[in-house]
Amino acid sequence: MKYFIGADHAGIEIKKFVKELFEKKGHTVEDLGPFNKDRVDYPDFAAKVCEAVLTNEDSKGILICGTGLGMSMSANKFDGIRAALCHNTYSAAMAREHNDANVLCLGERVLGYGMVEAIVDAWDSHSFEGGRHANRVEKINKLGSCRV
Ligand code: RB5
Repeated sequence: MKYFIGADHAGIEIKKFVKELFEKKGHTVEDLGPFNKDRVDYPDFAAKVCEAVLTNEDSKGILICGTGLGMSMSANKFDGIRAALCHNTYSAAMAREHNDANVLCLGERVLGYGMVEAIVDAWDSHSFEGGRHANRVEKINKLGSCRV
């Protein structure tokens, strides 16, 4: 799986850590920035990652800000993005199994490194169950919003 990862200044430390975790699992991770701690606006990096996910088949995204809230709100404006803010392993597993989430959002100021690793494990080891969930995900997709 190819992943695109982005953050704001409040998510840049966990971005490095998460990139390495996904790479250790055998995924390709492209870092779309930022690359220093200068203040930036999270919607700009959410847009970079979502546009990359929507234009690259079989890819997913990871977005990190202080709380994960701004990133998830921004990402879910994009038609075709199902961004899940996950601060526990159960949510991460369900985001994949039930919602077929294609963007994982995390809050660096909320989580410790141990929990981030457990969330990444849960996200990576679960996949979409389809079945009754497929129709619901299709309904999410039909709600629409922004288009790239
Ligand atoms: C930046 O201070 C902070 O507001 C941002 O990282 C994020 O938490 C917003 O949702």
